[in-house]
Amino acid sequence: MKYFLDSAKINEIREAYDTFGIDGVTTNPNHIKLSGKPFYTVIQELADFVKEKDIEGWDKFPISVEINPHLDDADEMVAMGKKIAAMSKSFVIKIPCTQAGITAARRLEEQGVRTNVTLVFSASQALLPAKNGSLFVSPFIGWKENSGEDCAQYIQDIVTIYENYGFFGKTQIICAAVRNGKQFVDCAVAGADIVTAGLQVYKDSFYHPFTDYGLAKFQAAWDETITEE
Ligand code: E4P
Repeated sequence: MKYFLDSAKINEIREAYDTFGIDGVTTNPNHIKLSGKPFYTVIQELADFVKEKDIEGWDKFPISVEINPHLDDADEMVAMGKKIAAMSKSFVIKIPCTQAGITAARRLEEQGVRTNVTLVFSASQALLPAKNGSLFVSPFIGWKENSGEDCAQYIQDIVTIYENYGFFGKTQIICAAVRNGKQFVDCAVAGADIVTAGLQVYKDSFYHPFTDYGLAKFQAAWDETITEE
């Protein structure tokens, strides 16, 4: 399972890339806002980052960039998607799972622009992006579980449907808005291709208090056995 960082902050992306080797990045308008910089400044920084690291390309280090969420016309969505995609070979165009969005994603894929259909909250929504050849589909986990739904079956259903019809691996499933280690495990058990989460969520998922407890215990034992180098 690949790990994507859900962030538009270049310092976080550098840290996650350099320390635990993330496989890609997902952004959304909220992440751009949280970076404190204008949209085109941020995405130019991301384009420069993949060039600097020599990982440019949607097949090497994909970065999902969302089009203007106010757009509801497929032609306008396609035009903006093409404009963003021209800035970096790593950019994958993130489009909402609406009728116009699905239409635009299909047209962009036909023209060689890779897409990520986002804001997916049901297995039935995940079907058309796959049929239309989108590179990614982003079912959200955290938002649903925050409101009391268990998402293990939801992810399993999407994986099973994709396997049934030969979509699995062609349209890769990004489990999005992952909030904790339990959700990482649910996604991995179901066989999802990718998870995307914020930096702190990854850091928390690596942590277990027994690791600290065990380390302290072994340090104390070590100190009693080492008498000379
Ligand atoms: C995924 O691609 C989205 O950017 C993301 O997971 C949205 O959720 P969040 O911003 O609430 O984490």
